[in-house]
Amino acid sequence: MKLKIINGPNLNLLGKREPEVYGSITFEDYFKTLQQKFPDVELEYYQSNIEGELIGKIQEVGFDYDGIILNAAAYTHTSVGIGDAVKAVETPVIEVHISNTHQREEYRHVSFISPGAKGVILGFGLQSYDLAIQSFLG
Ligand code: DQA
Repeated sequence: MKLKIINGPNLNLLGKREPEVYGSITFEDYFKTLQQKFPDVELEYYQSNIEGELIGKIQEVGFDYDGIILNAAAYTHTSVGIGDAVKAVETPVIEVHISNTHQREEYRHVSFISPGAKGVILGFGLQSYDLAIQSFLG
């Protein structure tokens, strides 16, 4: 089982970015926890602040990995291009968000990722990623 976690803009600042919304743990530290919890899963992690790089990564892994766990962050609400990439690839994509975007500003209620995603997990804090991995394990 080979899974790629792809994180979008500003998620490199987890731990210090609005900790009341996103928590105070860095993603690098949380990723180690995930690796320890799922030793049989080949887990990889990629982050970019650049829309085209995120599209490139989805295309690169989207025909031979078993799953993509995608938090497109702010691009979720704006990017037709990332939404199209999710639809274009064969690998199933689970959309995740740390916060419950539906409890927040109205512009966060729209997702260009959801129509192409296999499923959506949001609002469970960093545990959203853990639940997404579990969904691939059946
Ligand atoms: C987010 C929610 C988005 O609205 C926001 O722009 C983010 C993070 C989340 O994980 O809760 O950067 O995707």
